[in-house]
Amino acid sequence: MTDITSQTEAALAAIAAASDLDALEAERLETLGKKGWVSLALKTLGGMSPEERNAAAPAIQSARASISEALDARKAALEAAALEEQLARETIDLTLPAQAAPRGSVHPVSQVMDELAEIFADLGFAVATGPEIEDDWHNFTALNMDETHPARAMHDTFYFADKTTDGKDVLLRTHTSPVQIRAMLDQGAPIRIIAPGRVYRSDSDATHTPMFHQVEGLVIDRDIHLGHLKWTLETFFKAFFEREDIVLRLRPSYFPFTEPSVEVDVGYSNEGGRRVVGGHGDAPGHAWMEIGGSGMVNARVLEFAGLDPAAWQGFAFGLGIDRIAMLKYGMNDLRAFFDGDGRWLAHYGFSPFDQPTLSAGVGARA
Ligand code: DAH
Repeated sequence: MTDITSQTEAALAAIAAASDLDALEAERLETLGKKGWVSLALKTLGGMSPEERNAAAPAIQSARASISEALDARKAALEAAALEEQLARETIDLTLPAQAAPRGSVHPVSQVMDELAEIFADLGFAVATGPEIEDDWHNFTALNMDETHPARAMHDTFYFADKTTDGKDVLLRTHTSPVQIRAMLDQGAPIRIIAPGRVYRSDSDATHTPMFHQVEGLVIDRDIHLGHLKWTLETFFKAFFEREDIVLRLRPSYFPFTEPSVEVDVGYSNEGGRRVVGGHGDAPGHAWMEIGGSGMVNARVLEFAGLDPAAWQGFAFGLGIDRIAMLKYGMNDLRAFFDGDGRWLAHYGFSPFDQPTLSAGVGARA
């Protein structure tokens, strides 16, 4: 009994005196370790008669409890002191260049979105946003696609199981066009916005991924016509591709939300197996490539968005951001955009310092 008491006292004193974690660990091994005296004493209980055990056990158990508690407390104190000491010793100079740190890069899609915003800002367009989780009224109905419209089926929509509180279907937006509706309802007219962002369709191959990016454009004013649309897109593509010889062709088409509707083609040529935008599509060695959809906003859409079609009119367009990024920077597989492969990002990514500006060039590469 007294033996255990004095041994415990000695152990507690040694624990309190332990000046570092190694010394403390040595003390733990000597007491509570497999071959420590407390553990060995506990083992002797098994060979005792019940009476002996009842007499001996409490002292050993309480020795174990107080030593274990002391070890924990001393460990916490030593760790706190070590941290204090480390914090006092270490300094970080945030003004040093970050060369030794692993380098991140700006994804080409983010870069192109910045380029788009910069170019369109210069033309007086603000950036508008909307939710990626949409309801079917904004995504379809208000864009002149009622429940029975065949275009709804063509969108390969991802639906949620739940509906909105007022009974609308909830879905991942299939295009950025619902932002047109939201912007008109919010801001009224006149309006001049672009809306870049993610869109979702249940589709996947070399040129389709279930998530991709679009940019929507919308201009509503008193006497806007298709000529303004063509000039705007031409001016945009000249700045974006940084060449003056961009030629666009508007081809009659159909979208429920525009009337008339046109598909926009751009002239290009093949250079070294790569499509290079520029030149007239009918010129020798050239061809046309579809680059987006557009048209004059359908009067029904204006009505859904709370505008009087007798007073207001305008154009809208939708472009695939990933597609124009691939064209500009020469990538060929859309899926690589979303693989998160560090080597691809190191090759095609941009320096965070390479901010697109109109003065320095929106396509400058570091
Ligand atoms: N929302 C269309 C799509 O995703 C693209 C589009 C076409 C947008 C014509 C427009 C437009 O604003 O006028 O297929």
